[in-house]
Amino acid sequence: MCGIIAYKGPKDAIEIVLKGLQQLEYRGYDSWGIGVKTQAGLDVFKKTGQIGKVNRSDIHLPESTIAIGHTRWATHGGVTETNAHPHQSPNKDIVVVHNGIVENFEELALHLSTPRVSETDTEIIAHLISQNMQQGFAHAVRETAKKLQGKSGFVAINKDTDEIAAVRSGSPLIVGIGENEYFIASDVTAFLQHTKKVMYLDNNEMVVINDAPHFYDADGKEVQKRIVDIDWEAGTSEKGDHAHYLIKEIMDQKHTIMAATNQDEEKLKRVADEIRNAYGTFLVGCGTAGKVCQTSEYFFSSIAHKHINAVVGSEFSNYHHYLTDKTLMIPVSQSGETMDVLDAMEIAKKKGVKIISLINVVGSTMMRESDDYFNVNAGVEKAVVSTKATTAQLSVLYLLAHAVAGTLQEGKSQLMNTASAVTDMLNPRYDARIRDLAQLLKGREDVIIIGRGANYPIALEAAIKLMEASYVHAQGFAGGELKHGPIALIEPGTPVIVLVNNDENKEATISNAKEVQSRGGVIIGVAPENNPAFSHWIKVPDVGDAAPIVNIIPMQMLAYHLAVLRGIDPDKPRNLAKSVTVK
Ligand code: G6P
Repeated sequence: MCGIIAYKGPKDAIEIVLKGLQQLEYRGYDSWGIGVKTQAGLDVFKKTGQIGKVNRSDIHLPESTIAIGHTRWATHGGVTETNAHPHQSPNKDIVVVHNGIVENFEELALHLSTPRVSETDTEIIAHLISQNMQQGFAHAVRETAKKLQGKSGFVAINKDTDEIAAVRSGSPLIVGIGENEYFIASDVTAFLQHTKKVMYLDNNEMVVINDAPHFYDADGKEVQKRIVDIDWEAGTSEKGDHAHYLIKEIMDQKHTIMAATNQDEEKLKRVADEIRNAYGTFLVGCGTAGKVCQTSEYFFSSIAHKHINAVVGSEFSNYHHYLTDKTLMIPVSQSGETMDVLDAMEIAKKKGVKIISLINVVGSTMMRESDDYFNVNAGVEKAVVSTKATTAQLSVLYLLAHAVAGTLQEGKSQLMNTASAVTDMLNPRYDARIRDLAQLLKGREDVIIIGRGANYPIALEAAIKLMEASYVHAQGFAGGELKHGPIALIEPGTPVIVLVNNDENKEATISNAKEVQSRGGVIIGVAPENNPAFSHWIKVPDVGDAAPIVNIIPMQMLAYHLAVLRGIDPDKPRNLAKSVTVK
């Protein structure tokens, strides 16, 4: 939530920061701003709205080689230019950008000599640094950081020196190392086109960039850091010929399921042993990753006959009574920065729980805080609406379930069949078919989605897709629950999407479809075969127990086309952000 980028080097700092913010916009897009250091002092330029189409010439700031920028997802204070970052100290000697929350900002504000001009918690940081400059900038930044409560990260520049200082206290900040140039950003994608060499700032550490980056612990002691090479291609994060990132990433699934299959077999078997021997395994994730966890609970149950607990990140603290040093936790997160999941990991760690995570972002906090991890290999995912990371996570957990069952090779070959079936499925005719269905649903305000077994959490996930991309009210239910309430919503014409496979749930699910049909509901069946109960049929390949991985894909496409037909930007749904780094 909120994207930060800072640059120091010989190039046009504003251009670099602008491009970096455009890469980071998925982290928040209600307003943005850039701050610079020039011979004359510090200056800022801020705007409400998205930064997407802004050009260098639109930014009225003097040339500079030191700049910091921010794209905002509002927490404290409305979406106004005044509340947009960067924030300045009253005498304009400090400029700050910030991600996260300063929980005690109201209390700190009581001791300020000059009142704040914005409603934000961030502005307090600029005031405090400015008030503490007697022993220099770095000292003032460190002393300020000590006073802040809550999880956040900030970057500051000052009027007197050419230094950039940043402190990480829970929110990610990564230092990029180029040729005589340095970057600090919330996410490597912000500077990936300039360098793939990074140094990680750990929690409660500060970095000061002057001649080179210098890292310090919370007591001010200098710490040595390694330079790490990131093996992500900048190209994978571009949308190419596609109109939106969302459809580009849906189409990427032609390759990403296969890439997810590419896991170290020895590690899969080792982790399978850990799952077999653990006194309780918890899959933990939020949003779509949470639905991946729920779906995988069914994978482990049906494939390996093993009970695994799927828990939503924000609810995990309520399970702490069950945690021991024999518990295993498998956090699942695309960004690896979701605060609720990181908090859950902290709780687990205190109880000695072993943590083996599923990550997609190399170097993310989750990766570095885990005992071990699987990279799901989906590549950069930019659209807020998660797609290819979802199927990649499902694929790895499917493999893991097979590893627990002792049928890893069987699982692997089934998954490879699934990957090639998806490649065939994602053709232009299929896309056109889904667009036609979207046309049918375009004017509807409510859509019901049902499924049984692993298709139940997939129905929940399909509902998330439709809601977040197209703002259609969609709700998923277990097929059997329909008659316990939701069936009251069915009127002639109500669209009900039914997810059904050739498994033991097929008959009961078709019965549910018929119950809806006899009350006038319009059934859209997502299934390998057509059925008289369906008014419309979306064909999916029959991939056996890997079915949830393919069933979600037409739902992602439907969400995309609905968004476009309803005139909504599918890449930037209102009120959302991709990386949720606040509670
Ligand atoms: C946000 C995003 C979702 C995502 C969830 C968890 O809500 O909008 O698409 O599923 O966060 O994100 P994570 O990075 O942990 O997978």
